[in-house]
Amino acid sequence: MTSASAPGKIILFGEHAVVYGRPALAVPVTEVQATARVEEASRPGVWVEAPDISLAADLASLPADQPLAAAIRGVLTALDVASPPPLKVFISSTIPVASGLGSGAAVSVALIRALSAFLGQPLPDGRVSALAYEVEKLHHGTPSGIDNTVIAHALPVYFVRGEPIEVLSVKVPFTIVIGDTGVAAPTREAVGDVRRLWETDKPRWEAVFDRIGEVARRARQAIESGSVSDLGSLMAENQSLLEQLTVSSPELERLISAGYRSGANGAKLSGGGRGGNMIALVEKGNAPAVAEALRGAGARRAIVTQVG
Ligand code: MEV
Repeated sequence: MTSASAPGKIILFGEHAVVYGRPALAVPVTEVQATARVEEASRPGVWVEAPDISLAADLASLPADQPLAAAIRGVLTALDVASPPPLKVFISSTIPVASGLGSGAAVSVALIRALSAFLGQPLPDGRVSALAYEVEKLHHGTPSGIDNTVIAHALPVYFVRGEPIEVLSVKVPFTIVIGDTGVAAPTREAVGDVRRLWETDKPRWEAVFDRIGEVARRARQAIESGSVSDLGSLMAENQSLLEQLTVSSPELERLISAGYRSGANGAKLSGGGRGGNMIALVEKGNAPAVAEALRGAGARRAIVTQVG
């Protein structure tokens, strides 16, 4: 039996603009995890079980665009395994789906790791990330690759599409409270809507992406030089640019306001937007109060995580 886990993730700065080549910052969230277990089976074939999505089926019966099937087939092809031994694959996750926490990428990464290790050819993080990226394309069309990268490497990253991973060095750790609106918001739709907006007036929206990219660069400097107090206003600036891109929502803004009222130094949506999660930058000691305030304002759950 072999098992592997992968964390969730949050985007600190730069979502959406990252799809258009601007930099973004993302960090793993280890408080939530996807786990995959692979074991020998008595019956021939590859049996796939994912109770969270009510799936129990033979691999052969699953379509090419089913993400778990695509991840398994991707590993078998990459490792040149034409006929795998009888297997049972079991997947579970504590990462809420369609919430901006990277559940799809985390499930793929855990599965690719567990299966390649079970087959005696464990893949390095870069290959795991590349295979998970192929599955991400099924989830949301034109992904930048940031989710699979931060999750496969499980490190804070400064990410530019198509470029080698750059690890962020966090000089002074800081605390983030993640508030879940409970509104399921598939990234594919938000990304598609931003694309349609961009197509209506490319110069205008390219300028917005430039400003978001600039915020991400300044945030990197602040994180790497330990100027955590600069991050709050950068979050506010990033949120206002995301509002212009139409990916915010009343539920997200209610939680963001509740975050500020309870003492957060900055807050913004995180991920695709329209629902899903927001993040608030807080003093460590104030995290429980902010988490409580977010729940009071309607958050389905609040997670406190430390960056660095
Ligand atoms: C999703 O976590 C972040 C987006 O920028 C999409 C992507 O980068 O693929 C919204």
